Amino acid sequence: MTASVSYFTHGQIGNIVIDSPPVNALSQHVRQGIVDALQTAAGDDTQIVVLRCEGRTFIAGADITEFGKPPQAPALAAVLEALESHPKPIIAAIHGTALGGGLELTLCCDYRVATTSAKVGLPEVNLGLLPGAGGTQRLPRLAGLAQAIDMITTGRPITARDALTARVVDEVCAGDLGEGATKFAEALIDQGEGKRLTRDIPLRMSDEDTALLSQTRDTIAKRLKGQTAPQRILDCLEAAGTLTFEEGLAAERRAFEACMEDPQSAALRHLFFAERAAGKIDGMAAGTKAQPVKHAGIIGAGTMGGGIAMCFAQSGFRVTLVDQDEDGLDRGLSIIKKNYEISIKRGRLSAEQVEGFLRNLEPTTDWQQLQDVDLVIEAVFENLELKQNVFQKLDEICAADTILASNTSYQSIDALAAATNRPDRVVGMHFFSPANVMRLLEVVRGEASSDITLATAMAVGKKIGKVCALSGMCYGFIGNRMLRHYGREAALCVMEGASPAQVDQAMERWGMAMGPMAVGDLAGLDIGYRAREQLSDEEKGPRVNYLLADRLVEAGRLGQKSGAGYYRYNPDTRAREEDPAVAEIITATRAELGITPRSVSEEEIVDRLTLALANEGARILEEGIAQRASDIDVVYCFGYGFPRFRGGPMHVAEARGLQSVVDTINRFHDTLAAENWVVAPLLARLATQGGSLADIGL
Ligand code: 3HC
Ligand code: NAI
Repeated sequence: MTASVSYFTHGQIGNIVIDSPPVNALSQHVRQGIVDALQTAAGDDTQIVVLRCEGRTFIAGADITEFGKPPQAPALAAVLEALESHPKPIIAAIHGTALGGGLELTLCCDYRVATTSAKVGLPEVNLGLLPGAGGTQRLPRLAGLAQAIDMITTGRPITARDALTARVVDEVCAGDLGEGATKFAEALIDQGEGKRLTRDIPLRMSDEDTALLSQTRDTIAKRLKGQTAPQRILDCLEAAGTLTFEEGLAAERRAFEACMEDPQSAALRHLFFAERAAGKIDGMAAGTKAQPVKHAGIIGAGTMGGGIAMCFAQSGFRVTLVDQDEDGLDRGLSIIKKNYEISIKRGRLSAEQVEGFLRNLEPTTDWQQLQDVDLVIEAVFENLELKQNVFQKLDEICAADTILASNTSYQSIDALAAATNRPDRVVGMHFFSPANVMRLLEVVRGEASSDITLATAMAVGKKIGKVCALSGMCYGFIGNRMLRHYGREAALCVMEGASPAQVDQAMERWGMAMGPMAVGDLAGLDIGYRAREQLSDEEKGPRVNYLLADRLVEAGRLGQKSGAGYYRYNPDTRAREEDPAVAEIITATRAELGITPRSVSEEEIVDRLTLALANEGARILEEGIAQRASDIDVVYCFGYGFPRFRGGPMHVAEARGLQSVVDTINRFHDTLAAENWVVAPLLARLATQGGSLADIGL
């Protein structure tokens, strides 16, 4: 046995207990411990073995930190072999989550019992992998191909109840798992039940299965375009239905290795750890605790305030939603209700759930209702003076320790803090539109924001299901500051010769959820136009960067809301279509600036847009605005539709090689507008001296 696996007997039952915090992953010492314990159990006078875990969960999978390192014996395959060839029946007793290799291990046991709250799943696809310990071969034998296709291609875990229906588990224990498993074991002994291997269950593919596989291939090719793991998963499932078990297992092994070597998996594994690291604040005093928050106030029931209120209400917080007048409130509430109605229609929420959420929501125009809130998020118009007034008013009304947060996109958190007598309790909480859908929350640290304030904003963000990343104070914070460079290059590619559709196609084919021109149309071209009106010519920069957008707005093309922007939108289907009128405006704008169009390749578009992000990201990192490069990746993948399987802009740069990045930026400096392409000093230094973006800030 090892320190993380123990074995004891109780009557006729041998008990293997895994205790390897935090999530009982199948690290080398756990694998070794299980093999040792199985050997002991084989030699004693017990009749049956129960395998279970201590701590918050059953085995959450292979140890992801071991991936990419030299393998250490015993391999997981040897553990599974030891389970299947064991002389005694083995019962897996599951609580928490049995995920990936954890669930696969249970499929090599003879029986499975689970607590009511347990979940089981094969989430490898989220890491660009496939179940590599027999999951693609054993799960369809137990649960059928349709269930296996759904679970393995989506990676979504299922509840114990659903697992029972799908025959993945044999019993759900309502009470104590240990007692339940013991009873189950005793019953098996009484009935003389013995070994029962999943691999022996016959599996034959029906015509419906074949049709489902091919249909899933098509939907996945569209929905998860460019991703390799899901298609490989379907190959393995097809093998399960058409080959012998051993042949299927060999096919799975080959496909798993191909995934492991695929840069997509490296990117997704990077993001797995990046997401978890982003929630941590470097240098925070040990023992800093978040303040309890039960009641939240939201100021402004507009696009953002409404979405933020939904996030809180559906996570069980009491929410007081304030707007300046009844009209504002009614407008906001009707949008919230409409959103929920759509969710009910699509079967995502039940009417009872929605009723519960709405009960948590208290709309009012009376600011005094904010007296006992624990946290307020301001989401009124983007105007500093107005926001400062709001903060001053909140400072007077709310209790002294209430945290005051702003959802501002651009204003200085320090200027807002200065309007209060509690600058240490002022912080930015920058959500992304639509706020009830987008996962990212930038927590913005003002000069005076205290550790407790930051810890509270992070904890609340996590509770409402957001992925939080800390940003220091600068114009646009991490995400929008970088976006200006991305948007500029998109605009310049069009001015130099590409069409808006070519730019969007290039980025979408590369993996962006939506190309930059289509995003502009969605957000509304008038927003940038109005923002530019406030700026001096110098602040606006060269006209070539924005003249086309101005011309479109002046022609009444505000984007989707006016039915036309860079594209025109089909009034019935809302589908975007290229518009000859835009081509004319582009031609005229180029002529006005004396530009002769040239052909801009897809490769150039992708390089310019992604490297513009990485170069500004490197500055942000060097200035300490971002704590780590991986936080920037989190911001882009969760807030801006950056393809997760590319790992984020900083990972893209790192994976490409920083010298190649610097060389390409220098080439752009020599051939394009030089002022836009000055290599960030950090990139230049790392490329020359060697070193990794991942080491900066540590
Ligand atoms: N390997 C190594 N570390 C892991 C891990 C794993 N499989 N799963 C979680 N961790 C670590 C996290 O990095 C985190 O570390 P940190 O505290 O240093 O940041 C810690 O465990 C706690 O994780 P969470 O913060 O995610 O804790 P939660 O309670 O929110 O969630 C969980 C628990 C649902 C188990 C979640 O961690 C999770 O989904 N884990 C990954 C599950 C997974 O993908 N399994 C498949 C692995 S691949 C595989 O099994 C291949 C096989 O087919 C051969
Ligand atoms: P909006 O115009 O949709 O909503 C603003 C709401 O605030 C309106 O309902 C208005 O009646 C209310 N309001 C104005 N003054 C008020 C006052 N004194 N007291 C109470 N309520 C008042 O604006 P939107 O888009 O929701 O933006 C709000 C904030 O969120 C802005 O700071 C914006 O920069 C920021 N933001 C916006 C994003 C977006 O995509 N729309 C994304 C991220 C942040």
